[in-house]
Amino acid sequence: MIIQHAHLRNFRNHSDTTFNFATQMNVLLGNNGQGKTNALEALSFFSLTKSFYATSDVTVMKKGETFFELDGTLVSDSGKEFTVRIAYDHAQKEKKYTINNGVPDKLSSVIGKFPVVVLSPENSSITFGAPSERRKFIDLVISQSSAMYAEQVLEYRKILRQRNAILHSARGKDCRDTLSPWNEMLVHHGAILINKRQTFLKEFLPYITDAFLHIVGEKETPMIAYTSTIQLDETESVESIKHKLSQNLQQKYADELRFRTTLVGPHRDDILFSLNEMPIKHFASQGQHKTFLVALKVAEFFFLKQRCNETPIFLLDDVFSELDEERSRSLLALVESLGQTFITTTDEKIFGEIRWNTQRKKFFINSGAVINEMVAV
Ligand SMILES: Nc1ncnc2c1ncn2[C@@H]1O[C@H](COP(=O)(O)OP(=O)(O)O)[C@@H](O)[C@H]1O
Ligand SMILES: [Mg+2]
Repeated sequence: MIIQHAHLRNFRNHSDTTFNFATQMNVLLGNNGQGKTNALEALSFFSLTKSFYATSDVTVMKKGETFFELDGTLVSDSGKEFTVRIAYDHAQKEKKYTINNGVPDKLSSVIGKFPVVVLSPENSSITFGAPSERRKFIDLVISQSSAMYAEQVLEYRKILRQRNAILHSARGKDCRDTLSPWNEMLVHHGAILINKRQTFLKEFLPYITDAFLHIVGEKETPMIAYTSTIQLDETESVESIKHKLSQNLQQKYADELRFRTTLVGPHRDDILFSLNEMPIKHFASQGQHKTFLVALKVAEFFFLKQRCNETPIFLLDDVFSELDEERSRSLLALVESLGQTFITTTDEKIFGEIRWNTQRKKFFINSGAVINEMVAV
């Protein structure tokens, strides 16, 4: 897919900004704090219905305003045109998402329709940060490739909230009877999630290996593995995961009462990334972390392209300033071959040899506005 055109009203520091994008590469140039990242964030709304920074709708509304609106013209690989609109009204506290003026049945069915891959400095927490960051990463990739998974995740969250509320209000007293139906649901939905994630990681690994080959050559061998609160075999059926989760719940019951929260299930799991058999969280250099992250995102791009049957758009926020010149150049060459990309940067040096035309445009962003659009021939 591509975004042909976007109109931002009262979104962050953009009062009224219009973009007519190039079909391949779009470089958003400007000094710090001018609204480049904000523009990328707006574009991600078309695909995800919300921000990739997971902030609330009020945060992204321009300060002092009462609404924000985003309008986009998106064109699928097959040439079909979609008008996507997100309108938030603060008085009603309501956000409306429409495609061609129609409201989709469920917001979860939108995820994956217009696939997007985001690479931003915040993403470094995927390799550096807490397990929740890695779960969030894979859950979003799988959700974009499967609406059913997106719904399963929401369902599981609901069950978890209920179960935690029971444990919390029990204040350490026996609540086995009240928990019992929730245990069953947790086990059922938890097992489905674990099974999907395990399958996904197996399918995703070749994409990561491939991305590594592109970016660094054959020197390093990446690995990904699912680690769980339960002992998992390499391939495990949903039924046997259920059985293990049930057992684990029984074992942890006393602890759960004491800590007043759910200690068993996919919300406690992690993904282990390693490079040449060394866990990267503890052993990798800064540079290896960055490369791993870029490889994950490039892998995500090709995975989604195949699974969604649609080329994702690629949003790269301040990525080139973070890499050395050689890696920047090989990344830029790779990115050029992907699809439509949106790149923010303060320094255009790396784009020095690019010819600007209808396939490649640069936009100068200043104080929440486009002050100049370069399509020089
Ligand atoms: N809700 C908002 N309303 C108005 N301005 C905002 C809002 N949120 C962020 N900003 C402003 O946006 C600017 C940062 O924009 P950003 O896109 O992150 O800059 P950069 O060009 O460096 O990527 C800051 O000046 C910040 O004050
Ligand atoms: Mg920025």
